[in-house]
Amino acid sequence: MRAYQLKSQTGLDGLERMELPEPRPARGQIAIRVAACSLNYRDLAIATGAYRQPAKPSVIPLSDGAGEVIGVGPDVARFKVGDRVAGCFFQDWDAGEPNAYVQNSALGGARDGMLAEVVVLEERGVVHIPAHMSFEEAATLPCAALTAWHALIEHGRLIPGQTILVQGTGGVSIFALQIARMMGAEVIATSSSDEKLARAKALGANHLINYRMQPDWEKRAVEITGGRGVDQVVEVGGPGTFAKSLAAIRVGGKISQIGVLAGMAEVNPAMILAKRANVQGISVGSTRMFEAMNRAFSVNGLKPVVDHAFSFDQTVEAYRHLKAGAHFGKVVIRI
Ligand SMILES: NC(=O)c1ccc[n+]([C@@H]2O[C@H](COP(=O)([O-])OP(=O)(O)OC[C@H]3O[C@@H](n4cnc5c(N)ncnc54)[C@H](OP(=O)(O)O)[C@@H]3O)[C@@H](O)[C@H]2O)c1
Repeated sequence: MRAYQLKSQTGLDGLERMELPEPRPARGQIAIRVAACSLNYRDLAIATGAYRQPAKPSVIPLSDGAGEVIGVGPDVARFKVGDRVAGCFFQDWDAGEPNAYVQNSALGGARDGMLAEVVVLEERGVVHIPAHMSFEEAATLPCAALTAWHALIEHGRLIPGQTILVQGTGGVSIFALQIARMMGAEVIATSSSDEKLARAKALGANHLINYRMQPDWEKRAVEITGGRGVDQVVEVGGPGTFAKSLAAIRVGGKISQIGVLAGMAEVNPAMILAKRANVQGISVGSTRMFEAMNRAFSVNGLKPVVDHAFSFDQTVEAYRHLKAGAHFGKVVIRI
């Protein structure tokens, strides 16, 4: 079968197209013919050696993919041949609190990922995908969508009428915008680009801030809420934006700490105290969360935003497209 492997983690040159033997499912495992994958910022960081955890040597990259079940091993109960499914980012985080070893089951890092014609996954690490989504759309769900869901629903306990701030227009943030609007919340969207902000508005964003033109976007966010501050920030900037997010939230507001896109800065812990802030680190989500999210997306007809779908042969180009940061929503690879 066709697949890519990461032969070194020093840049995109390390991505090599390979012919590998097709894997077969053992007890409790499922074989999936992958139809589409999607890229996350993490995949770029792994390929360039910038990720905080080492990947296995010659790893098959990418955490995210969707396709059709083509084989099931003994004792598999929840899936049959022909089912439309997606893999879970963590193969060993079924439900509840994650243990310290969950990270060792992350696809496209500690374990081989989805950028192959056929993959074999654990039954507990696979979910059915919503019927209204194409494989390309469903391939965007495992990391970015579930992270946004975890932040807003599991951590945020979002209720209608709350105000949510999303940073930029990448994969996580666009899903956060869509989920927040689906739940009846008010959304403040930020971006470096007015054109992208216009697209965020078309998706339902209520307020728009260009963070390049208005570097003190946290002040504008507080103004928008009549001086109160926002209920929750979906924080993807990290070191470079965290202090601003603390300034943007209301007293007792929440920050879901997700990403590390923006520079370095020092954070004064006294500010957390002053705001009585609820700060939670988010690490994608469990299989049960993924199932709950898919039910919500099915009932509400939520459609992921696919920026561009590249062919399997254009994989390196797809990575470059993500790196350039010109995308809005998700970058997909058709297998
Ligand atoms: N903890 C987790 O479980 C988890 C899961 C998924 C992702 N992440 C992390 O979350 C971050 C986002 O991931 P992603 O896959 O959504 O990335 P992405 O699709 O590559 O998003 C990049 C976008 O972020 C925006 N951005 C960059 N710098 C910014 C800044 N200083 N302030 C505000 N927005 C900024 C830009 O939007 P504009 O072009 O609109 O300005 C950029 O296009 C990454 O650090 C990733 O590693 C963590």
